Amino acid sequence: MAALGITVALLVWVATLLLVSIWKQIYSSWKLPPGPFPLPILGNVFQVDLKNIPKSFTRLAERYGPVFTLHLGSRHVVVLHGYKAVKEVLLTYKNEFSGRGEIPAFQEFKDKGVIFNNGPTWRDTRRFSLTVLRDYGMGKQRNEERIQRETHFLLEALRKTQGQPFDPTFVIGGGPFNVIADILFHEHFDYEDKMCLRLMHLFNENFYLLSTPWLQLYNYFSSYLRYLPGSHRKVMKNVSEIKAYTLERVKEHHKSLDPNCPRDFTDSLLVELEKEKHSAEPVFTLENIAVTTADMFFAGTETTSTTLRYGLLILLKYPEIEEKLHKEIDRVIGPSRIPAIKDRLEMPYMDAVVHEIQRFINLVPSNLPHAATQDTEFRGYVIPKGTVLIPTLDSLLYDDQEFPDPEEFKPEHFLNENGKFKYSDHFKAFSAGKRVCVGEGLARMELFLFLSAILQHFNLKSLVDPKDIDLSPITIGFGSIPPHYKLCVIPRS
Ligand code: HEM
Repeated sequence: MAALGITVALLVWVATLLLVSIWKQIYSSWKLPPGPFPLPILGNVFQVDLKNIPKSFTRLAERYGPVFTLHLGSRHVVVLHGYKAVKEVLLTYKNEFSGRGEIPAFQEFKDKGVIFNNGPTWRDTRRFSLTVLRDYGMGKQRNEERIQRETHFLLEALRKTQGQPFDPTFVIGGGPFNVIADILFHEHFDYEDKMCLRLMHLFNENFYLLSTPWLQLYNYFSSYLRYLPGSHRKVMKNVSEIKAYTLERVKEHHKSLDPNCPRDFTDSLLVELEKEKHSAEPVFTLENIAVTTADMFFAGTETTSTTLRYGLLILLKYPEIEEKLHKEIDRVIGPSRIPAIKDRLEMPYMDAVVHEIQRFINLVPSNLPHAATQDTEFRGYVIPKGTVLIPTLDSLLYDDQEFPDPEEFKPEHFLNENGKFKYSDHFKAFSAGKRVCVGEGLARMELFLFLSAILQHFNLKSLVDPKDIDLSPITIGFGSIPPHYKLCVIPRS
């Protein structure tokens, strides 16, 4: 009898929990944009394909329109699809939607640094970092010189392969890695240096793992999955190792700091730390500086490096495009002078190819998640504070009105009928608004200068018939990850 009583009580308890959960979901989503009906606890997890969430968003947008709601885990997620909705959220509602949606795999960085900061220190950390980066040569000329200096090392590393097949990941990665290492720590690494290879491996592995289905699930259901074994633990371990490295560098810098003569980005932030020493709520603690430099290091290396690596694979598939690039380089730069940014004005084809690589590879398809910083009325809906917003970037980059045949790689997407470079406002690979990528200027410069220098000195040789090269990413999530491949680079003269 007692057992029956307990069973009935348990059943009533579970039924009440379910009802409360359904009621909460219905009540709190009353004025949210439309979307598929959520199941209790699981929400809409069955409506998204964890192997390709960006594609699921496109499919759902066809049914529910450019602004729709999903319930994933305990979160409301409002997805923005297409030029108008994405631009409105990023630019018209730039303050209201400038928060950062949580990414649980980066728990250790939460509300510190820039990228994963949704706390009160984000604004000052970002603003000051941008100022320093500009002063410290993020602007134009000094960065150009910095990249040009690094180009010699990159070309040397490529020469060392002696025309033999090699995996480009960490050879090409050495360029962007050293450019940002110089900005952050005034440091240069040999391309075979153990620490350099270790850090590049951590960045690369995390970018890959963050783009796998398990991590998509983990990011929405971390409160349930946190205690299970799985690759989320690896990501978090890697994040810790990266942070331990930058913290060590920051502490070293602190010991030898001369506030009158900052050597690099880290020193400039440490000068602020010294100024704020007696403040009750300092922004620039050692911890915050370590996370900020880790943000820059990871974002500054992996994105540009993956874009270059993917770009070379695309050129292996389309040798006729590579040939046109060689011709343009020979005409404008010649065989020996180091490429410069001013050359871009006379190299519309290279400019278009770089843009088309970024459009086609769609590196961060769903953008980074934003969050509402306050209750906001938007297109007649009410978006409560804390709601996650996803201003999808692939919906702009793959817009078939703006870029006919978006699935095809066509530099002509960025060329007019006279062969001049054609600007497109749909090109938002770096996002826009208050959270726009801090490294956009640097990345664009690196892509143009490194790619021009590589093709100035080498012909690319594929190990397989170009027709058999499959350009599809091996996994899509946080990023679109290119297939592994090897190539040969053959000196041109
Ligand atoms: C091809 C290269 C790159 C691409 C495609 C890219 C793309 C992006 C995207 C889509 C975002 C999210 C923007 C948003 O939340 O709306 C972002 C943020 C960010 N990027 Fe980049 N990025 C690149 C290179 C870099 C480089 C070289 C650096 C460092 C120097 C960098 C540093 C950052 C930082 C710090 C943020 C966070 C901004 C914030 O939350 O306020 N990125 N990037």
